[in-house]
Amino acid sequence: MAKEKQLFFCKECGYESPKWMGQCPGCREWNTFADAPKAVKVRHSSGKYRDSFGGDRAKPSRITDIETAKEDRESTGIGELDRVLGGGIVRGSLTLVGGDPGIGKSTLLLQMCRTLSASGNNVLYVSGEESLKQIKMRADRIGDFLTNMLLLSETCLDIVEEYMIDGCEFAGGDITVPDIVVIDSIQTIYKEEIDAAPGSVSQVRECTSSILRIAKQKGISVFIVGHVTKEGVVAGPRMLEHMVDTVLYFEGDNVASYRMLRAVKNRFGSTNELGVFEMKGSGLEEVLNPSEYMLQGRPEGEAGSTVTCALEGTRPIMVEIQALVCQTNFNYPKRTAVGIDFNRVTLLMAVIEKRLGVRMADYDAYVNIAGGLKIGEPSTDLAVVAAVLSSFRNRAVDDKMLILGEVGLVGEVRGVSMIAKRVNEAAKMGYISCIIPKANLSQIESAPVKCIGISNIRELGDYI
Ligand code: TYD
Ligand code: MG
Repeated sequence: MAKEKQLFFCKECGYESPKWMGQCPGCREWNTFADAPKAVKVRHSSGKYRDSFGGDRAKPSRITDIETAKEDRESTGIGELDRVLGGGIVRGSLTLVGGDPGIGKSTLLLQMCRTLSASGNNVLYVSGEESLKQIKMRADRIGDFLTNMLLLSETCLDIVEEYMIDGCEFAGGDITVPDIVVIDSIQTIYKEEIDAAPGSVSQVRECTSSILRIAKQKGISVFIVGHVTKEGVVAGPRMLEHMVDTVLYFEGDNVASYRMLRAVKNRFGSTNELGVFEMKGSGLEEVLNPSEYMLQGRPEGEAGSTVTCALEGTRPIMVEIQALVCQTNFNYPKRTAVGIDFNRVTLLMAVIEKRLGVRMADYDAYVNIAGGLKIGEPSTDLAVVAAVLSSFRNRAVDDKMLILGEVGLVGEVRGVSMIAKRVNEAAKMGYISCIIPKANLSQIESAPVKCIGISNIRELGDYI
């Protein structure tokens, strides 16, 4: 018999090596190498392999023979969350919810548990971070809960698994297996048999695969909370994201109260959807019209303010771009960009200087996306240029005008994607005219608003 191969792996980053090392070449940490747990092959008494979920050996099937009945989806009762999940929760799926501390992951999941239990699901909320009292205090802010929602403050996964397999006592006194389980958070739970601290790579990996197995076997939909590192990825191994069916990221600004929920991976739907929420005193509230939310409080008839329409996934969101241009007191003009790429702003300043002959070098310029949204799309260029010119000339742009277009180094205005969607959003918000790239004009058939096509930033002068 061949000698069994010994493998070592780093407990911090998951680096694998056939020999033990003092320092991990992957993450440069010392003394983190451990034996890899031996892979155990499970055989039937007949000597045949089982499949990974404990069923009988799988057979290859013809693709044409496979029935695709529509998956059984359960609405979470929160429209914006349903949209990001691709229409609701798929039974037996595993979802990872990542995000910065304090962004509202626990609040969102608790609110989801509340509506799910109200629609007749048995929900088990496991917290390894907060005591039952702390969770209840949060729950009191959100609203009334039903008795078929159970709370468990536990960090040992073996105990949680027992409840998932054997069931717990929900409303009515019956012992039943939960339909939905929330685990808050994966970094705080541990499995007894693994010799590593909670939150380490091996714990996170083994706990997730164990939860995955039970979720698929019992048809329980599981939500796992994952903390995010400074770099913005879920702490722990990247493989966590590979193992689960759906990865959602909850993000927002420290100062702004809105929160955005995005799907980074979704085995059951598109990853282009975006959910918008606002954090209020009584939990998270859905923002049904993000454009209206972003534009509220916009000053009217003021110079230096323009409106553009950015796409977040496939969702058009109108935002106000503000610019302030004032004489500089130094040899070197100051440039500031908030919510938009700084290099993009300096590039646009150079284009304005060279192509329009405006002496921007004598002026400081500040550009800000109102509302705290961050935009990485070049389609906002033309609106930035218009806002800067408007502030420079101290002349206001028409309040009900949308400006769209990418600006090139020659001062040309280039086409943008999904123009019809953006123009329709402007029409919905009661806008009267749109300045768009000439190249896009032909893509708009029956314009709901007046569309003006321009091909160079020089033509902007007629409207400012
Ligand atoms: P939380 O859900 O605990 O964040 P996470 O689980 O992602 O760490 O959110 C906590 C923050 O939300 C906290 O700063 C307080 C705030 N909050 C409200 O503003 N209103 C509320 O109703 C609740 C429950 C929390
Ligand atoms: Mg939390």
